[in-house]
Amino acid sequence: MPQNTVIAPHTTAVDRYAVWGNPIAQSKSPQIHHFFAQQTGQIMQYDALLGDEVQFEQQLLDFFAQGAKGCNITAPFKQRAYQLAQVYSERALTAGACNTLKKLENGDLYADNTDGAGLVSDLQRLGWLRPHQTLLILGAGGATQGVLLPLLQAKQHIVLANRTLEKAQDLADKFGQYGQISAVQLTDISVQPFDVIINATSLGLQGKTAPIAPELLSLAHAVYDMQYAKQGDTPFLAWAKSLSVKNMSDGFGMLVGQAAHSFALWRGIMPEVNRLIEQEMI
Ligand code: ATR
Repeated sequence: MPQNTVIAPHTTAVDRYAVWGNPIAQSKSPQIHHFFAQQTGQIMQYDALLGDEVQFEQQLLDFFAQGAKGCNITAPFKQRAYQLAQVYSERALTAGACNTLKKLENGDLYADNTDGAGLVSDLQRLGWLRPHQTLLILGAGGATQGVLLPLLQAKQHIVLANRTLEKAQDLADKFGQYGQISAVQLTDISVQPFDVIINATSLGLQGKTAPIAPELLSLAHAVYDMQYAKQGDTPFLAWAKSLSVKNMSDGFGMLVGQAAHSFALWRGIMPEVNRLIEQEMI
C-alpha cells in the first residue's frame, strides 16, 4: 500500500430514532427503547429531543433529512407531527394524531398511532380484556381519541363520559361505525358494574380526580389510569384504593406497550414487555 494512502475510518451507520416532546427530560422512552434494543440484539440509537414550539416542523424535517429512520412524538406535538406525514395507518387517521413516524424506503413519512394498541396489550396482560365487556372511559380529549379504534376492534362496548358532553358525543358519532359506543355527561353516569373504568382525563396532572359517584369505582371489576405516577399512586388510583378496589393499574404498562408497538413497526421484532413492566426495571 502506498505510504500516503488514507484509510477511511471504519464507520458503521447506526440507525437513528428519537422521541420529540416539550418538555422531554422526564421521558422514559429512551430507557425503554434501549432495553428493547438490547433484548432483541438491535443496534440503534434513540434520543430524547426537545421540540421547539415554533420551529418543530423544521426540526422534524431536518431530523429525517439527516437520515433518521423514525421517531416517537409526545405532547404537545402529536397533531403537528401527523400533519407532516404522507401515509397513514387507519388508527392514526381515526386518532387524528400520531405518536410514531417511520421513514419509508421512498422517503415518505408513515404516521402510526400505537397508543391504543399499547393500552389493549396492557389490558390483555392484566387479564382484563374479554370480548363484549363494557368499559367506562372518563374524558374525551386527545388521549381518548387515540385509543378508541383499537378498543372497539377488541370488541369492547364503550361508554364515554366527559365534562363537555358535545366532545364525547362527537367521538361517539365518529367511532360508532367501528362498534358500540355511547356518550354521557361526566356527572350523569348511571351507577352499574362496569368491567373496566379507564381514566383518560388530564385531571391527575392537577392532583384531582373526576367528579363521579364513588359507587362506580367500588362496583367496577377493574380500574385503570392512563397516566402513571413516578412514585406511589396517581390521584385516581389513590381514590380507588381508598374505596377498596382490588384490581387497579396505572398507565406504565401502556407506555411500555405503545413503545413496543412502535419498535415492532421500525425493526420488525416485537419485544417482550412483561418483565420490564412487572419488575419496573426502569
Ligand atoms: P389529553 O390529550 O390528555 O386528552 P385534552 O385533549 O386537553 O388532553 O383532554 C383533557 C380531558 O380531561 C378532557 O376530556 C377534559 O374534559 P373537557 O373536554 O370537558 O375539557 C378533561 N378535563 C380536564 N379538566 C377537567 C376538569 N376540571 N373536570 C373534568 N374533566 C376535565
